[in-house]
Amino acid sequence: MMLQHEITEALSHRPTKYWRGEPLLGSSYGQEEIDAVVQCIRESMDPTVGFGFSAPPIPDFEQAFASYCGAKYATAVNSCGPAIDIVIRYLNLQPGDEVIVPSCNYVASALSVFGHGGQVIWGDVRPDTLQLDPEDVKRKMSPRTRAIFPVHMNGLSAPIDEYVAIAEANPHPVHGPAKVIGDAARACGGGYKGGKIGKAGWATVFSFHTMKNMTTLGEGGMITTDDEDLDKYAHSVRMYGGGVNAWGTSNVMTKVQAAVGLVQLSKLDSFIAGRRRLAHERNRMLADVPGLILPFEPADCYHSYYLYTCRVKDEWAGAKRDELMATLDNEFGFRCVIANPPVYANRKQLAEHTRGQSNPVTEHLAKTIFCVPIHPAMPDADNKYICAAIITAMSRL
Ligand SMILES: Cc1ncc(COP(=O)(O)O)c(C=O)c1O
Repeated sequence: MMLQHEITEALSHRPTKYWRGEPLLGSSYGQEEIDAVVQCIRESMDPTVGFGFSAPPIPDFEQAFASYCGAKYATAVNSCGPAIDIVIRYLNLQPGDEVIVPSCNYVASALSVFGHGGQVIWGDVRPDTLQLDPEDVKRKMSPRTRAIFPVHMNGLSAPIDEYVAIAEANPHPVHGPAKVIGDAARACGGGYKGGKIGKAGWATVFSFHTMKNMTTLGEGGMITTDDEDLDKYAHSVRMYGGGVNAWGTSNVMTKVQAAVGLVQLSKLDSFIAGRRRLAHERNRMLADVPGLILPFEPADCYHSYYLYTCRVKDEWAGAKRDELMATLDNEFGFRCVIANPPVYANRKQLAEHTRGQSNPVTEHLAKTIFCVPIHPAMPDADNKYICAAIITAMSRL
């Protein structure tokens, strides 16, 4: 916790930037990215070279990314949404086939299952890590479960090996153990059991959207896997599906994005180190603030702090949490976000599709969760200001 004189001092340095809970650029760009773009354009200006098709540096980026994650293969695509669709399409879901998806996180995984004719089964989340709860997954497994689709929570790895064990103990009668697919859109560069996210499980999908831990000029995505057949399929269907006799469309990443991706990947660990340093400082400054629950990092995970995900205690839930967020925005000048509402909230089609399923932990989290701005380039003074503002606003409210 901060002492009163530290709070007063910190509040006298109001940030010059308007920080948002999910900043619009999640990484930093330097001269290296600009040089990579210019070089790539120059090389592509030759009519015998051009920008296509899967030309270098796209395969170089794929190889570098696979090796960063410790996976055998990687396929670069135009964003994480198509990466999810490609992996789900590979499963060839039939009516009634079920996929277990966390009820609290982001909508993309559930929409893909729904859009490809599968049945979304919500798995509730654990109240401490906010990850898809393995105990609830066990309860939801059925002879129709084709996949378990955890969404890594805001930079923190989900316990992938636990889902794999559950899948192996409850194999599908025709297809065998359910495939474990990780949505790591918000967790690129995070760690799990001494390795990187992107190795454990059957497949992992990543986003390089502008807000993510590393970005490829605003959009971009990747699929990692050790399954050669999935990799072959993914490479084929991202460009109309030739060779594997499957439907595909154009989901290619451009050479310029891949060139930037290589540079961003080389900086990713330093971005995450920056996030972690700020988060650890923040953990110290906000320790023991009454009413506040700070992010939790299990011993076998390396949190990349894509978001700094807090919760308020029960007595602050709902309107009082909202009032806190409004005070921080209107009076102190920075915006926290509720980045993980129940996935079916404001999604009529998903709510109807999953009617009758209940997710008590997710429903409670909707009233308690809030994410405080964090960014690798955030100055220490801004970090201190944000902590001092939270302490001041909470003690006043
Ligand atoms: C968890 C999660 N999955 C998938 C996506 C989709 O990523 P993209 O914008 O690259 O398609 C996002 C984007 O915010 C996300 O947060």
